[in-house]
Amino acid sequence: MAILITNIKELLQVRESGVTKVSGREMADLPLLQNAWLLIKDNLIEDFGTMDNCPEAGDAQVIDAAGKTVLPAWCDSHTHIVYAGNRVQEFVDRINGLSYEEIANRGGGILNSAKKLNETEEDEIYQQSRLRLEEVMQQGTGAVEIKSGYGLTVEGELKMLRVIKRLKEEYPIAIKATFLGAHAFPKEYKENHSGYIDLIINDMLPKIAEEKLADYIDAFLETGYFSVEETERIMEAGKKYGLPAKIHVNQFTAINGIAACVKHNALSVDHLEIVTDEDIEVLKNSDTMPVALPTCSFFISIPYTPARKMLEAGLPLALATDFNPGTTPSGNMNLVVATACIKIKMTPEEAINAATINGAYAMGLSETHGSITKGKRANLIITQPLASYYQLPYAFGSNLIESVIIEGKVV
Ligand code: NIG
Ligand code: FE
Repeated sequence: MAILITNIKELLQVRESGVTKVSGREMADLPLLQNAWLLIKDNLIEDFGTMDNCPEAGDAQVIDAAGKTVLPAWCDSHTHIVYAGNRVQEFVDRINGLSYEEIANRGGGILNSAKKLNETEEDEIYQQSRLRLEEVMQQGTGAVEIKSGYGLTVEGELKMLRVIKRLKEEYPIAIKATFLGAHAFPKEYKENHSGYIDLIINDMLPKIAEEKLADYIDAFLETGYFSVEETERIMEAGKKYGLPAKIHVNQFTAINGIAACVKHNALSVDHLEIVTDEDIEVLKNSDTMPVALPTCSFFISIPYTPARKMLEAGLPLALATDFNPGTTPSGNMNLVVATACIKIKMTPEEAINAATINGAYAMGLSETHGSITKGKRANLIITQPLASYYQLPYAFGSNLIESVIIEGKVV
């Protein structure tokens, strides 16, 4: 099955193969073609060019994109889409003055979601989660990472990862699974941290590896959650099973966690609302992708990742949603891109690079996703007619997407 898209006003993020991420000043550049065509064959980008040498359509279905922008589908490298129920009461509690930390200390937060998850049947969790996945695909996401971390028991973590596996099987979107058993200490292990970490390493990990349920390993490296040393144990254990690390770090405090993650060759370090000069230094010359989650900052009123400072130091940056019931109940990458422009002064070019090619890198998919490149997956957003792509973050409350193509098919 072939599709020929013609008369594209702006074809964004056109790259040679081999570009797997962009850093610092390069992020200000978003290579594009004007008045372009793009040919999809099966699930791949077959070719593209400008309309002065547009091929004959032949048997291909033709989509006329006059006035419209075409860009790679979003690559959301950090989500917790699989969960049970919701945390609307905590949302109202925060409006009434409680902080995220205070709510967590009362047994809310991650432990609240873990209780619900363990009480819910696997099929019911799948049904709730697939609706969220379908929603983000409609919002232009073409590749997504999904974490476990609301089980915190052997059975609960396996249940979550099996739901992610089923989503991988049932949907065309590329999904990477991350094991986040180290998301919080269950109540019964509050005073026995090493006991819970032993459970993760000796009971959860071998079963997860046996069923091939995870691609990556994660931990919440934070004051009051997992210490640097505890997270290092988790990263080392993951390595033994071939699971590279993607770590939640520096959300509330900077405790030299980033250096530990870089030392263990983490694929990404995520959140980074609080970043020190030392953190920036260790990230330079590393292969670790920093990931900002600005709609999390928006939703729970915490500082934003200092993106300008990081980009000016030459670092790359990816943007992701953090879609989860507690701190970011939204998987809308369009809103993430807009929030990055509005609140942390990323330019539209920087934000789109961060939400496509760098997002793909942060989940190990940049060979196949995240840019308009011959041979990459045909994962595209076709917008409504726009004045220019600047309108995407500018009109932050509008849905400007006309259609989304994933693996060569309109979804
Ligand atoms: O990325 N910070 C840790 N984990 C999630 C939130 C978890 C929750 O509150 O349910 C996050 O923000
Ligand atoms: Fe998260």
